[in-house]
Amino acid sequence: MAGPMGGGKKHGPMGPVKKPKNTKGTVIRLFKYICRQKGLFFGMLFFAAIQSLATVSAALFIEPIIDDYLRPLVGQRFEGELVSGLIRTMVLMGCVFLGGALASYGQSKCSVWLTQRTLNTLRKDLFDSISDLPISYFDSKPNGEIMSRFTNDVESLRMFISQGLTQFVSSGIMIVGSFVIMLMYSWQMTLIVIAMVIVMFFVTKTVGKRSALFFKKQQEQLGTVNGYIEEIIEGQKVVKVFNHEEDVISHFDEINESLRKAATSANTFANILGPVMNNLSHITYALSATVGGLLALKGAMTPGEIVAFLQYIRSFTQPISNITQQFNNAFMALAGAERIFEIIDENKEVDEGYVVLVNAKISDNGEIEETEEHTGVWAWKHTHGDGTVTYTRLAGDIEFENVTFSYDGKKTVLNDVSLYAKPGQKIAFVGSTGAGKTTITNLINRFYEINDGKIRYDGINIQKIKKSDLRRSLGIVLQDTHLFTGTIEDNIRYGNLDATHEDVVKAAKIANAHSFIENLPDGYDTMLTGDGSNLSQGQRQLLSIARAAVADPPVLILDEATSSIDTRTEKLIEKGMDALMQGRTVFVIAHRLSTVRNAQAIMVLEHGEIIERGDHDDLINQKGKYYQLYTGNFEE
Ligand SMILES: Nc1ncnc2c1ncn2[C@@H]1O[C@H](COP(=O)(O)OP(=O)(O)OP(=O)(O)O)[C@@H](O)[C@H]1O
Ligand SMILES: [Mg+2]
Repeated sequence: MAGPMGGGKKHGPMGPVKKPKNTKGTVIRLFKYICRQKGLFFGMLFFAAIQSLATVSAALFIEPIIDDYLRPLVGQRFEGELVSGLIRTMVLMGCVFLGGALASYGQSKCSVWLTQRTLNTLRKDLFDSISDLPISYFDSKPNGEIMSRFTNDVESLRMFISQGLTQFVSSGIMIVGSFVIMLMYSWQMTLIVIAMVIVMFFVTKTVGKRSALFFKKQQEQLGTVNGYIEEIIEGQKVVKVFNHEEDVISHFDEINESLRKAATSANTFANILGPVMNNLSHITYALSATVGGLLALKGAMTPGEIVAFLQYIRSFTQPISNITQQFNNAFMALAGAERIFEIIDENKEVDEGYVVLVNAKISDNGEIEETEEHTGVWAWKHTHGDGTVTYTRLAGDIEFENVTFSYDGKKTVLNDVSLYAKPGQKIAFVGSTGAGKTTITNLINRFYEINDGKIRYDGINIQKIKKSDLRRSLGIVLQDTHLFTGTIEDNIRYGNLDATHEDVVKAAKIANAHSFIENLPDGYDTMLTGDGSNLSQGQRQLLSIARAAVADPPVLILDEATSSIDTRTEKLIEKGMDALMQGRTVFVIAHRLSTVRNAQAIMVLEHGEIIERGDHDDLINQKGKYYQLYTGNFEE
């Protein structure tokens, strides 16, 4: 996929067209979704059947109207038994049409409900899957591409379920019904029709095969285009700073053009089907009319039968061309469904953890007991193989033992890292950019799994701890702040949804965010939009510290943002962090060495290895990397 720079591997616009992987499986699965709304689905089928039966049987009145009433009436006075019979028959025919119209109304109602409910479930499953995907999945795809599955791919299903599905059903019934009736009128003429159907079948098969491929390509290109748009909107400032507007536009033109070509191919193949089918049915009509005329001359058919038969050719071929046109929708829907299922099937973040976090109280004899109430004391509940349960008090003791890790399985990012942090200690990581500091925090909260070694939390291997409980016990201030649309208060409360307004304010005070929030016109009710773009970088960071503070976790991980901020805000953040660190195990990744000076242990990372450790004075005396980083003296 081409990135925002327009680089990457380029395909010709008609590039490799991927085959739908498992069309049959996708169809079955889609039907299972549709059948979840059993009542609506069968209701829709029922009404569609009534409606098409009405259409088919209404034409049955044509023959008696012509042969039994109109022909005998030719040259006669328009009165008597014949006329009242004619009127009766026509009223009956009208009733059948009316029944059909009512059924058609019922069918469209069912169809709307069925479609919207099915899409709702699909969207829900898709969203649930996305929330369950491991972080590494998002490393590999632009967000817009994933978004596209919610928008275009779901939309393609809407068209199919709401129109295509009913068309297939009612057309099927009309085809079968008309065919049976045609056979009853004249087998000779029916033979002509059968010959035409065979031709139609081969045309559809040939065209359809190519269409399906291009529809898949079209949905993929749509995803690419969406991904690119999302990326550029997000990065618009960078684009402008470097005057890349024109490159961006020309790259967009390129992928937009590819989309146009793929969509054109897809639709051309599908769209020529309609006219081809129409012409084939005109030919059949003409041929049948001729043969019918000949048969009438021989006295084998009455004029009424011929007119009725020709009417049935219409109600036989019309649904065939309707169906072929619906192939358009069907192919697109299949391509869309396949892309949706692809995400639903993606490997979920597995969680085999069975050690959970529970509220605890310490009994008089010093034992830990599980309790329902919120005591502020937490314990790890460890259920063993033999059914016994042990409790370990949550203290915040973290240990890395010979941890080795690679994001992609190729490049080792952490190599044989060992470290420990005791409750109440402050451990600082320093090191050049890319050394692996953030990676260490990603491993503690299990965003990624380690390749070798062990990480222990209060003596428990973290792989045994349930992920949600593990993360609940950790307070993490990520290196890049993310704020959600909502008020400032909502954003702080994100750290602990049970927090009261007072808790939020207290947390904001600890984080030193209170004074700037108070100065905003709407205070804590100030709405944040677009990832907090109406705040400054430093303010955003203060909010994310407040968010960690409100959770009041025993272990805190602070990944200091690298972006430089004014010294006053820097001081505020520093004070905020220091306040937050009281009485907790703290990992701090510091880019400003002033923040690490009071740490109990400082680890200097270089290329994924800890090359120096000790406190500030030790490390300064060692005159190694830390000394260089701290004094900016790189000669030594
Ligand atoms: N999601 C990822 N996929 C693959 N490689 C990654 C990923 N994230 C980081 N890396 C690589 O891992 C290495 C360590 O990255 P890390 O983010 O831990 O550095 P850091 O020490 O936090 O740097 P900084 O001081 O700039 O924040 C880098 O070489 C980086 O290229
Ligand atoms: Mg980092």
